[in-house]
Amino acid sequence: MAVQINPSILSADFARLADEARAVSGADWLHVDVMDNHFVPNLTLGPPVVESLRRATDTPLDCHLMIEDPDRWAPGYVEAGAGSVTFHVEAAAAPVRLAREIRALGARAAMALKPATPIEPYEDLLPELDMLLVMTVEPGFGGQQFLDVTLPKIRRTRQLIDKHGLELWLQVDGGVSASTIERCAEAGADVFVAGSAVYGADDPAEAVRRLRAQAQA
Ligand code: DX5
Ligand code: ZN
Repeated sequence: MAVQINPSILSADFARLADEARAVSGADWLHVDVMDNHFVPNLTLGPPVVESLRRATDTPLDCHLMIEDPDRWAPGYVEAGAGSVTFHVEAAAAPVRLAREIRALGARAAMALKPATPIEPYEDLLPELDMLLVMTVEPGFGGQQFLDVTLPKIRRTRQLIDKHGLELWLQVDGGVSASTIERCAEAGADVFVAGSAVYGADDPAEAVRRLRAQAQA
């Protein structure tokens, strides 16, 4: 299982986004948190910033939409240059249709679950997805403490993916750091989002290398 490290620019300096994106050139994807002040109590950025980031870095963009009505807005993020678009199942009216639309537009389609949302009702949807995101904090803010209570769900999701023989990536996001990444990897995650653990470090590129080594161990 190849390990991927996706730094979250939510913890970067938004006035220097181009430099911050280039500071983690060894990253697999750049994780872009889109928040609308409705689905979560925080507001970040929209398609114009994604378009600018696309021009500023060669690292592909992993857009995590924490917004209401992703059925309406997600396609705009593919058009803005996202290589992967994640919508929350709690917000999507028609998740299968939306995943198919994202794929048809040429991006990877991903679905996210908040910590209290179970995976079991969505087992039959997994073949429609390129990635499943298990949130390991309540979405909305960087720098929160990792919720251990999500580990059994990561494990069960990995079992479902393997049971169906799917290529689906299993992403974790929230509180992923040097002290929690090994537990996530052991539970079966293979794509790791890290905001404060990367951009809060003196050397973000070195932080990415260390997290990768730990996840692979
Ligand atoms: C939280 C966001 C995360 C956030 C993670 O709602 O989805 O991507 O940036 O930040 P850390 O790694 O600091 O928990
Ligand atoms: Zn995120």
